[in-house]
Amino acid sequence: MHANSRTIVTNQTEVHQDLSRRVERALTHALRKPVAEHTREAFCAADEWLMLQGKPLILDAGCGVGLSTRELARQHPNHAVVGIDRSADRLGREHGVLPDNARLVRADLVDFWRLALAEDWQPTHHYLLYPNPYPKAAHLKLRWHGHPVFPVILALGGRLEVRSNWRLYIQEFAQATKQATGLQPVVSEYDSMGQPLTPFERKYQASGQRLWQLVAELPYCPGLVPTAGEGS
Ligand SMILES: C[S@@+](CC[C@H](N)C(=O)[O-])C[C@H]1O[C@@H](n2cnc3c(N)ncnc32)[C@H](O)[C@@H]1O
Repeated sequence: MHANSRTIVTNQTEVHQDLSRRVERALTHALRKPVAEHTREAFCAADEWLMLQGKPLILDAGCGVGLSTRELARQHPNHAVVGIDRSADRLGREHGVLPDNARLVRADLVDFWRLALAEDWQPTHHYLLYPNPYPKAAHLKLRWHGHPVFPVILALGGRLEVRSNWRLYIQEFAQATKQATGLQPVVSEYDSMGQPLTPFERKYQASGQRLWQLVAELPYCPGLVPTAGEGS
């Protein structure tokens, strides 16, 4: 990782004008994409592991190389921490022993989150640390708050923490959360106090970039997710 990480380049100056329409659509139209078989298998194995752990769950969504998953497991020895990423390359990098209460899963989050909700997973904490920003305005639908899976992320409940080096991403996520749940997340500047939780956090702070965080205490709310037949 270099300490001269580039700042976000975007053609957007304010919250995307289509955001509330995208959120409304996600809340009223079921996501019909079939779940990939490899993610179903990965989820089933993680589900078995979680049952054996018998501990409250922490999700580290888009965990990259899994450093945050390891650290969260150390910080929360009485929780089971599941880190999910679609990149086999990132997950496969050597970053030290995985604590017994941590598990790394290669899976697509769009499918994994839906399976987790279907199996009544209820994380106490849910981290989304430095998600891909997709800063071009045309890519709103690729940001998690503009994606059809957004209601599933919220429905899982727990303390949701999202961090980004792009303030607008966090502001949009907060606005979308308020629209979907009626709850106003707390948005603030974030300082890791010299102890970055992830490689991206480390490289952004090392290059002097400001970081932003959203925290939302969400109830478990599966009813937020539209079912097939609704609005279709
Ligand atoms: C910018 S990186 C941040 C990684 C890590 N959280 C960190 O802060 O170092 C975003 C990560 O999200 C993962 N990701 C993006 N979309 C995903 C998806 N649909 N399913 C699973 N992982 C995804 C990428 O593979 C990548 O590792």
